[in-house]
Amino acid sequence: MGKIPEPHEFANLVEAHLHGFHARYGPRDARVFFSPGRVNLMGAHLDYNGGPVMPLAVHAGTIVASRPRGDRRLRLASTLDGEERTFRLDDLPSAPLSSWVDYPLGVVRFVLERTGSEACGLDLLFGGNLPIGAGLSSSASICVGTAHMLDAVWGTGLSVQERVDAALAAERGFVGVNCGIMDPYAVGFARPGHILWLDCKDASFEHLPLDPTRVVVAVADTGVRRQLAQGEFNRRVEECRLAFEALAGYANGARCLRDVPLSVLDAHGARLDPVLEKRARHVLEEVERTFTARRALLEGDLHTFGKQMSAAHRSLSDLFDVSVPELDCLVETALEWNGVLGARLTGAGFGGCAVILLAVDARPGLEEWVSTRFEERFGRAPGISFFEGDPGPRELL
Ligand code: GLA
Repeated sequence: MGKIPEPHEFANLVEAHLHGFHARYGPRDARVFFSPGRVNLMGAHLDYNGGPVMPLAVHAGTIVASRPRGDRRLRLASTLDGEERTFRLDDLPSAPLSSWVDYPLGVVRFVLERTGSEACGLDLLFGGNLPIGAGLSSSASICVGTAHMLDAVWGTGLSVQERVDAALAAERGFVGVNCGIMDPYAVGFARPGHILWLDCKDASFEHLPLDPTRVVVAVADTGVRRQLAQGEFNRRVEECRLAFEALAGYANGARCLRDVPLSVLDAHGARLDPVLEKRARHVLEEVERTFTARRALLEGDLHTFGKQMSAAHRSLSDLFDVSVPELDCLVETALEWNGVLGARLTGAGFGGCAVILLAVDARPGLEEWVSTRFEERFGRAPGISFFEGDPGPRELL
């Protein structure tokens, strides 16, 4: 990725976006909305196993400009590819089109079904500063952002929970990705300066403060985008399901892999296919690490928190097999820097980004240290950006 713009550069990006909207659709007023992406600090590959996760929304995300039309047409365009599509609200596609428009379309369908709204048509321009497919949840960003924007311009009165539900329904029911609940919750329920603690077994959550005077979060992008990542992700989901099926009989009342005690895996793991045993071990140990990280965060012990992140990365690499050499290099190099508390891959893996937790005063020099070493090995610089936690979807102009 290019680097995520600093806040003052963000204003220029929004200005350019509005300019692009006017150039495409004419100069009248438009409303402009923003929806963040997210990094996940703890709880890797736990959401679809019913475990706890600890994501943080980031101020890189989706920008959408919107203007009502006098008819019931929906025009969608993107600053990223110039493609423009027009639909009639009364005759929206019932199957996905294998295009980015599937994400907003899925949300529009859900919101119309839910509200039965006599809605007006809209001209929409999407864009923003979130790298696509980099593990920062561009899909939840665009889906929750679309739900937020529709609620504002159509006055549907959807709650935040309903907007998150709309995003999930769009991805699962229309785009056709069997995603976990972490990403839309992380985006929809974001609070500035807070990590979301989300228990994916019952979708209960709370906000845990991350002290910006002590720590900052850096995200480093490998630039690696794997075509096969979705297939590999689905394979991990399936492997975890099979591991749960094999172990459930030994764990009374277990409803998901997260419910299986580690002692059950220790006692019966040898009966599993060795690959399934590794996957289950990652999941069950990651559940324990995530609870340890939560306790540490609440006690202000950020060293212990960081150690859980680094242990998670080793497990993701050795047991879950979702790392790549570029991610390992970013994590290992970052951990050599004085003041870095922890580092690990974020998102599904197979490329994308590493997330680094560091003491605020360790920030000067980190970027150069990591970039130089990464470039020596892979011939290009990783983009590195710094985040504190974003307030969540909102209207900008
Ligand atoms: C992807 C998915 C999330 C989650 C992570 C792994 O980002 O979209 O739901 O499963 O992988 O933690």
